[in-house]
Amino acid sequence: AASSARFDAAVSGVYSEVSELADMDWDNLGFGFMPTDYMYVMKCSRGGNFSKGELQRFGNIEMNPSAGVLNYGQGLFEGLKAYKKEDGKILLFRPEENAQRMRMGAERMCMPSPTVEQFVEAVKVTVLANERWVPPPGKGSLYIRPLLMGTGAVLGLAPSPEYTFLIYVSPVGNYFKEGLAPINLVIEAEVHRAAPGGTGGVKTIGNYAAVLKAQSAAKAKGYSDVLYLDCVHKKYLEEVSSCNVFTVKGNVISTPSIKGTILPGITRKSIIDVARSQGFQVEERPVSVDELLDADEVFCTGTAVVVSPVGSITYLGKRVSYQNNGIGVVSQQLYSALTRLQMGLTEDVMNWTMEL
Ligand code: COI
Repeated sequence: AASSARFDAAVSGVYSEVSELADMDWDNLGFGFMPTDYMYVMKCSRGGNFSKGELQRFGNIEMNPSAGVLNYGQGLFEGLKAYKKEDGKILLFRPEENAQRMRMGAERMCMPSPTVEQFVEAVKVTVLANERWVPPPGKGSLYIRPLLMGTGAVLGLAPSPEYTFLIYVSPVGNYFKEGLAPINLVIEAEVHRAAPGGTGGVKTIGNYAAVLKAQSAAKAKGYSDVLYLDCVHKKYLEEVSSCNVFTVKGNVISTPSIKGTILPGITRKSIIDVARSQGFQVEERPVSVDELLDADEVFCTGTAVVVSPVGSITYLGKRVSYQNNGIGVVSQQLYSALTRLQMGLTEDVMNWTMEL
């Protein structure tokens, strides 16, 4: 109720932030949009560089109806989180990785992009300006959403003449309504998320619009989300609508290799390193759908979903369950290791966190 009241207030342009913050129910954060105080905006024209950005009060933005992002989907997004520590300091997790991924994606989508330094600085400034919206320790995190958009006018299909980099933030808790409980996935055999040579490996907005139909149909049938297979062999695991996927068999953890159709997740990459440091053998390779039948555990990774254990997967009408729908030991262990690191509760031997 608190969040919808805040949303209504923002839509009607009425900000009464003190009472809104006081109304915050930090114990029941989900993963929904909540307006905060400031957003960061930086612009550049084609052929030029992003120069100086600025903080603006959070609110609607104006755009030419002919903007490249609106007409032809020339847009990218990123996602990262800030956590508040017990001592009040704020930690970012590997923000330069998001910056680099945005640069890779921008190259694929014919867009200029901020430098790594500009990106990281903008994230820091935005988080600090919205510091009061970072949830208290243990209650969640501040989700940071950088956007890169073609905002100049086009009519014929062409790269936009002007671009906008924008960051907004929103406090979040668990992504799935199941909370920390295992999620139930369905494999959609005939719908594919990405094709070789396409844009599956970059975080372009269209990849996410393209899965909404399958995701909505799955949710209507009671599943948490959809697991997609490759479109060539219709046999190898790709990813879930909003996250990467891993299987566990004994001491071996496997995940689909990055080959252009799979989003190179920063949580994916971090979990691979954490698992190796704990003595697991991690294989990045094609993972066949048949391997789901005798996996001990399956889990998903992503900034938003963190590490989400999978309770069951349904494929061609058959349901395979894992760990009696409970949380597997390996998933739990990796979740704890990663989140403790992100929250500053264990020594950051990897040098992954950035304190603000
Ligand atoms: C994230 O995990 O941060 C993402 O960008 C996925 C999004 C669909 C929530």
